[in-house]
Amino acid sequence: MEALNCRRWRFTSQMLLAFSLTLVFAFCPTGAYDPLDPNGNITIKWDVISWTPDGYVAVVTMNNFQQYRHIQAPGWTLGWTWAKKEVIWSMVGAQTTQQGDCSRYKGNIPHCCMKTPTVVDLLPGTPYNQQIANCCKGGVIASWAQDPVNAVGAFQVSVGSAGTSNTTVRLPKNFTLKAPGPGYTCGPAKKVKSSLFLSVDGRRFTQALMTWNVTCTYSQFLAQKTPTCCVSLSSFYNDTIVPCPVCTCGCQNNITQPGTCVEPKAQLLKTPGINTPTKNFAPLIQCTPHMCPVRIHWHVKLNYKAYWRVKVTVTNFNYRMNYSQWNIVAQHPNFDNITQLFSFNYKPLTPYGTINDTAMLWGVKYYNDMLMQAGPDGNVQSEILFQKDMRTFTFKQGWAFPRRIYFNGDDCVLPPPDAYPWLPNWSTSLQIEKAFIFVVSLLVSASLLAFL
Ligand SMILES: *[C@@H]1O[C@H](CO)[C@@H](O)[C@H](O)[C@H]1NC(C)=O
Ligand SMILES: *[C@@H]1O[C@H](CO)[C@@H](O)[C@H](O)[C@H]1NC(C)=O
Ligand SMILES: *[C@@H]1O[C@H](CO)[C@@H](O)[C@H](O)[C@H]1NC(C)=O
Ligand SMILES: *[C@@H]1O[C@H](CO)[C@@H](O)[C@H](O)[C@H]1NC(C)=O
Ligand SMILES: *[C@@H]1O[C@H](CO)[C@@H](O)[C@H](O)[C@H]1NC(C)=O
Ligand SMILES: *[C@@H]1O[C@H](CO)[C@@H](O)[C@H](O)[C@H]1NC(C)=O
Ligand SMILES: *[C@@H]1O[C@H](CO)[C@@H](O)[C@H](O)[C@H]1NC(C)=O
Ligand SMILES: *[C@@H]1O[C@H](CO)[C@@H](O)[C@H](O)[C@H]1NC(C)=O
Ligand SMILES: *[C@@H]1O[C@H](CO)[C@@H](O)[C@H](O)[C@H]1NC(C)=O
Ligand SMILES: *[C@@H]1O[C@H](CO)[C@@H](O)[C@H](O)[C@H]1NC(C)=O
Repeated sequence: MEALNCRRWRFTSQMLLAFSLTLVFAFCPTGAYDPLDPNGNITIKWDVISWTPDGYVAVVTMNNFQQYRHIQAPGWTLGWTWAKKEVIWSMVGAQTTQQGDCSRYKGNIPHCCMKTPTVVDLLPGTPYNQQIANCCKGGVIASWAQDPVNAVGAFQVSVGSAGTSNTTVRLPKNFTLKAPGPGYTCGPAKKVKSSLFLSVDGRRFTQALMTWNVTCTYSQFLAQKTPTCCVSLSSFYNDTIVPCPVCTCGCQNNITQPGTCVEPKAQLLKTPGINTPTKNFAPLIQCTPHMCPVRIHWHVKLNYKAYWRVKVTVTNFNYRMNYSQWNIVAQHPNFDNITQLFSFNYKPLTPYGTINDTAMLWGVKYYNDMLMQAGPDGNVQSEILFQKDMRTFTFKQGWAFPRRIYFNGDDCVLPPPDAYPWLPNWSTSLQIEKAFIFVVSLLVSASLLAFL
């Protein structure tokens, strides 16, 4: 009884925590703090590698230190405001989207004369003489946990009409990072210790003449007004499938917003090119009561003596999106005893050192690392086998369901805890049965002992 009470208390304290976190989120909507990745950021580093007669040449490197938030196609866009009248003479590995008004230049025309240039990455397949290391990936940057080698992007910029020494150069201001939509907020550029560069043959280090860093952090609330994913639940011990809450990501309303969603059989979907992503990345969503582009289903599938098994299915309801390098992050107290995982990659995330209850899961390369657009192929699935920790394990009170799930770094909406599938009432009689067997076996062993 003691243990049971304690369990109950634990669950409610978890619910309290979740509730208070929700409150925190609700009341500081621009806060960029992510409890599962508290140090996540994208750092933009400018290294001045040489001074020129009228400015400098810099290598700009973007490191994605976020564990599970990547930048997928069509990639990043980086902007800033020049402090004075700087121009960009040339770029390697990236380009500005507009040249701007360069009419005051005769002869040698700069690459870009805008006060606020906007830079995009070049596409893969760019000729080698126009590349530098880590450039030319179409603006795609992997997340740190998933693929640290590719969690970086870079380009080189030659700046004119700028300061020509570390005392006269003025740092650019007002950095904006789009990925490709909103969500990131960048701090001011700060001078830091000059970084070292290893030569191509790996035998010599050179040092940047000057380095400054800009740190950008993500906030889901800046990125989009409504959630982008939801969670549904089911279990072997109860026939009820608890669906995503209605209208999680918007409401299906034919009258006020006709055409906000499409039925899977609609004629519209047969139109050629209907899947092509639009300029503003507006989704084309299959009509569902929740209206989310992505749903994650957590099914408690089997119960063994010492193990239990969960099936996780991720479904795409957006006809205009293939999610490349998708990932989910799930929080459940049993992740410290994950025993086997089928057809997904796994990495434990331990932002608070000892608490090992958060897992990052993502697809296997060339097998299911792409979550295809809505339709028959628009899902990926896996099964997870957990070893029971007998001190905490229970099917009661929704313990077997996740505490939190993210898809591509965005928090997915869970059903309210009171809607979770219940253990049927026969479980109490089962417990009585168990107790009975226990008493019987005790009696048997006692009599055996007495006999001996
Ligand atoms: C950015 O992330 C790195 C790596 O997690 C961390 O060391 C650094 O402190 C972060 N910077 C800021 C300003 O949060
Ligand atoms: C500047 O950014 C680089 C990564 O781009 C990072 O390694 C370095 O620690 C940062 N420096 C400071 C002082 O934050
Ligand atoms: C400029 O560079 C020189 C030599 O590298 C260094 O001694 C000096 O402190 C630097 N000044 C500033 C303002 O960074
Ligand atoms: C930077 O942005 C802020 C707010 O958007 C604006 O007030 C400021 O004038 C901008 N600075 C420059 C140099 O553009
Ligand atoms: C929405 O409108 C279309 C045609 O205008 C109709 O076929 C469809 O049944 C409507 N859907 C709902 C949920 O009302
Ligand atoms: C998704 O990928 C498939 C196969 O590569 C392609 O046919 C389809 O057009 C893509 N859809 C989108 C929305 O990019
Ligand atoms: C977390 O638990 C998993 C599964 O038991 C284990 O593989 C991993 O090493 C643990 N990580 C830490 C940091 O304890
Ligand atoms: C579960 O994991 C924890 C921490 O990794 C460990 O102390 C414990 O013995 C494990 N329990 C089982 C049943 O393996
Ligand atoms: C299954 O769970 C639901 C709550 O989601 C509950 O209403 C229902 O009574 C449960 N079914 C059984 C057989 O216990
Ligand atoms: C199970 O028990 C609860 C309370 O003990 C009761 O409210 C509920 O109706 C019962 N469910 C079924 C399916 O008998």
